[in-house]
Amino acid sequence: MRENMSEEKKCSNCMEQKLRQEVREILEQYTTSKDNLIQILNEIQEKYGYIPKEAQLEISDYLKIPMAEIYGVITFYSRFTLKPKGKYNVSVCLGTACFVKGSQAILDRLKSRLNIQEGETTKDGKFSIDATRCVGACGLAPVFTVNDEVYGKATVKKLDEVLDEYMKKD
Ligand code: FES
Repeated sequence: MRENMSEEKKCSNCMEQKLRQEVREILEQYTTSKDNLIQILNEIQEKYGYIPKEAQLEISDYLKIPMAEIYGVITFYSRFTLKPKGKYNVSVCLGTACFVKGSQAILDRLKSRLNIQEGETTKDGKFSIDATRCVGACGLAPVFTVNDEVYGKATVKKLDEVLDEYMKKD
């Protein structure tokens, strides 16, 4: 039992080391100018689906930027996240046009069906929920998206149908 636990611990250290090494390789493609921060964060977000703590530490060290400043930038831009998103990230637009057409009811239904809150991911890693501002498709309001797929003129019923389809997928 004790052996298993130490194996697990070792393994999580290995993953951390590997991640830090990968991030260093990304960083080496950039100069140490602070102006590169957003581009680096974009690359990390794309690779991992979120910005891991270890990556923030490496960036802070490389660009000589305090962790608090990096955290501030990550939380300012909605495209950056601090936690891994699900395989299918369902995002409901709460921008004005969508909101007045009932997107809150769609978000509420989504939360109750998946049993998670905004910003959370289901335990199996399959779904996550986001609430966003205008996604630029106001003519189709209310709108929700699943990854890059946009569903317009949405209703709770339509959400249910789309979710049922994704639940059947791997
Ligand atoms: S307000 Fe929802 S797409 Fe513009």
